[in-house]
Amino acid sequence: MTHRKKLIAGNWKMNKTPADAVALAREIVAAAGQRTDVDIVICPPFTATESVGKVLDGSTVKLGAQNLHPEKSGAFTGEISPDMLRALFVSHVILGHSERRALFGETDAFINLKVLSALKNQLRPIFCVGETLAEREAGATLKVVQTQVEAGLEGVGREAAADLIIAYEPVWAIGTGKVATTAQAQEVHAFIRMLLAKLFTEPVAQKIRILYGGSMKPANAPELLAQTDIDGGLIGGASLEARSFGELITAAAAK
Ligand code: PGA
Repeated sequence: MTHRKKLIAGNWKMNKTPADAVALAREIVAAAGQRTDVDIVICPPFTATESVGKVLDGSTVKLGAQNLHPEKSGAFTGEISPDMLRALFVSHVILGHSERRALFGETDAFINLKVLSALKNQLRPIFCVGETLAEREAGATLKVVQTQVEAGLEGVGREAAADLIIAYEPVWAIGTGKVATTAQAQEVHAFIRMLLAKLFTEPVAQKIRILYGGSMKPANAPELLAQTDIDGGLIGGASLEARSFGELITAAAAK
């Protein structure tokens, strides 16, 4: 089995002024030190992208964004293009987060355009999928995830696919304190890897990191991160504080 380096990504969502973001980024850089055994990404809000980028310069912590618009430029009021992100040294971008899907009406087809645009522009997508509570209770989890994966990755070539990062985030576990059991998470992660092998090839699927997201905390992370197909975490709440985020980095390094 290919060794996949663990990745811990912080999704700060709509939190932190630029000044607060800089302060937190400084603490995270200090906590990360020079470690290279775990990949670390933080995704501040756009208003703090540039200032946080300056803090990360020369560190091992990478800069991510929480969204992008697939077009290069133009009449898209309120949107941010891949070029704008690249100009600020952003390397990763969260796409298809369930909050974007549920609250801002993003469809699989639109998310697919974003994934293709990110890859074309040398941004690594952190592409999110996951079922709602109603879907899980209806026994539709795997079907929902399959549709999201297949539609979201349509047209992605085998070579580009190695740059993908997938985040499995059960919607009912996000920000709720209800974490998926390790068995529930591992089942879906293994299923996603099987889908990736079908879409691309088995060696490519073995290279792609699949993160778990949804109330991941220092207390539950070690067990989740010990699962064969869980390659890291996309962290919301626990990424807003350097201490808990640092503990998650340490937990990932231990696996
Ligand atoms: P949470 O958020 O860790 O606060 O549950 C995860 C996410 O939405 O990416």
